[in-house]
Amino acid sequence: MALRTIRTEGDPVLNKVCKPVKEMTDRTRELIEDMFDTMYDGNGVGLAANQVGILKQIVVIDVEDGNQYVLINPEIISEEGTQTGQEGCLSVPEMSGTVTRPQKVTVRAFDENMQEFELTGEDLLARAICHECDHLKGRLYTELVEGDLHNVNDPEYQEDEE
Ligand code: NI
Repeated sequence: MALRTIRTEGDPVLNKVCKPVKEMTDRTRELIEDMFDTMYDGNGVGLAANQVGILKQIVVIDVEDGNQYVLINPEIISEEGTQTGQEGCLSVPEMSGTVTRPQKVTVRAFDENMQEFELTGEDLLARAICHECDHLKGRLYTELVEGDLHNVNDPEYQEDEE
């Protein structure tokens, strides 16, 4: 298990557009394993490669639906409906804010064997896919927050947390 350092808001790497992965290498496989370890260590449900300083289009997601998703060069190809709820990010520690996202999305991506596949997610999975794909474009959820960001430890907002 190898943990990588999570870059936090203000680090310019988080505002950079990531580059497509052309081929799978041992180094990239190791990066993906480390990204899962780092995400679980931070109790996150998703992580994008630029959050650990690597400008590659790689996302890992685990929303506790029994799957570990690796999305390489992901592209959202359809969106349906809307959902409004709390969102946070390992790169913006301790904070949370209200963000509206599609209720359902389909993403086309490559897996860790560079096989193309499509994944349709609803609710939290749809939210995670959108949030992580935004990271790869250099965008943070804080740009989308409706109202104010708040500290998750602020007792005034405890009841908002699910
Ligand atoms: Ni994030």
